[in-house]
Amino acid sequence: MTTDTGSELQRDHQGRLRHLLTLEGLSRDELEQLLDLAQFYVRTPGDMPPRDQSLAGRTVANLFFEPSTRTRVSFELAATRLGADVVNLDLQSSSRVKGETVLDTIYTLQSMLVDVFVMRDAEPGLPAYVARHVPPHVSVLNAGEAHVSHPTQGLLDALTIRQRKGDFGSLCVAIVGDIRHSRVARSSGRALLTLGVGELRLVSPESLAADPGELEGAKRFTSLPEGIRGADVVMALRIQRERMPNADSIDGDAFNREWGITSENLGRAKPGAIVLHPGPMNRGVEITSDVADGPQSAIRLQVQNGVAVRMAVLATIVRNVQARNVEAGRRAG
Ligand code: CP
Repeated sequence: MTTDTGSELQRDHQGRLRHLLTLEGLSRDELEQLLDLAQFYVRTPGDMPPRDQSLAGRTVANLFFEPSTRTRVSFELAATRLGADVVNLDLQSSSRVKGETVLDTIYTLQSMLVDVFVMRDAEPGLPAYVARHVPPHVSVLNAGEAHVSHPTQGLLDALTIRQRKGDFGSLCVAIVGDIRHSRVARSSGRALLTLGVGELRLVSPESLAADPGELEGAKRFTSLPEGIRGADVVMALRIQRERMPNADSIDGDAFNREWGITSENLGRAKPGAIVLHPGPMNRGVEITSDVADGPQSAIRLQVQNGVAVRMAVLATIVRNVQARNVEAGRRAG
């Protein structure tokens, strides 16, 4: 299997998105259309959830071969609220633990008429690999690919920032912490750069920095006070211990003292700055509870927006596949 982010592969012959494998290669217009549709689906706690029938008759399979709370539940709710049938499979309950290959799992579910595979896996390149092996009426959505990308997280972070702070061009966004192992940093950073963010900062210890050349256009900082000074948005990232060979060598308390988003550190950002965190949080390590639960936190808003963004992505992809199917039917008939 080759490592492949799939930026070309994710479009049909007309250039429409038929998979969502990565935000690389999506235009500003495409991102804005997805955010606008997501905004249409946004509801706040206490509202009735939005419902329509964009996915009526479709079947969505959530294949989560790494742990997830937010992404998996929000994809399930999003698909259900759009009228789809939904099945959920995780590593422990699937025949992958008995040695079945991922493609055999996909072909098995395809035989049961699954139309959309939502996939999370620790192996880089898996969503694109699967996308190369499904027929044209089947879509693959990347729900978290190793350290590489997490496209719907990038979209929901952008939506949250747009709701709270407006025009991207005037904003300084600081992404702080374990950038090196973070698929969120890569997808959120890509979304923000494409949307024309005024300044994107990647703030981390040298050992947790992204490779040179990644997220070109972002400024890099190896000091937290400098990196968040004057920022409009501060995004804290969890230390991705599961992706580190030497995870035990990182002391959470020591990390918090130097790199944690505490109320004292947040005081260096612009007054009224918002705080994001993709979750799950390790309180007392990359963020303290007074910040996570404080007035500047938009963390629960991110979760709320996650359902709306996944509805927008599902509705868009399925609409595009339907358009392609109609055209193919016309050509055949
Ligand atoms: N942000 C995110 O991907 O959270 P989960 O791992 O809970 O899905």
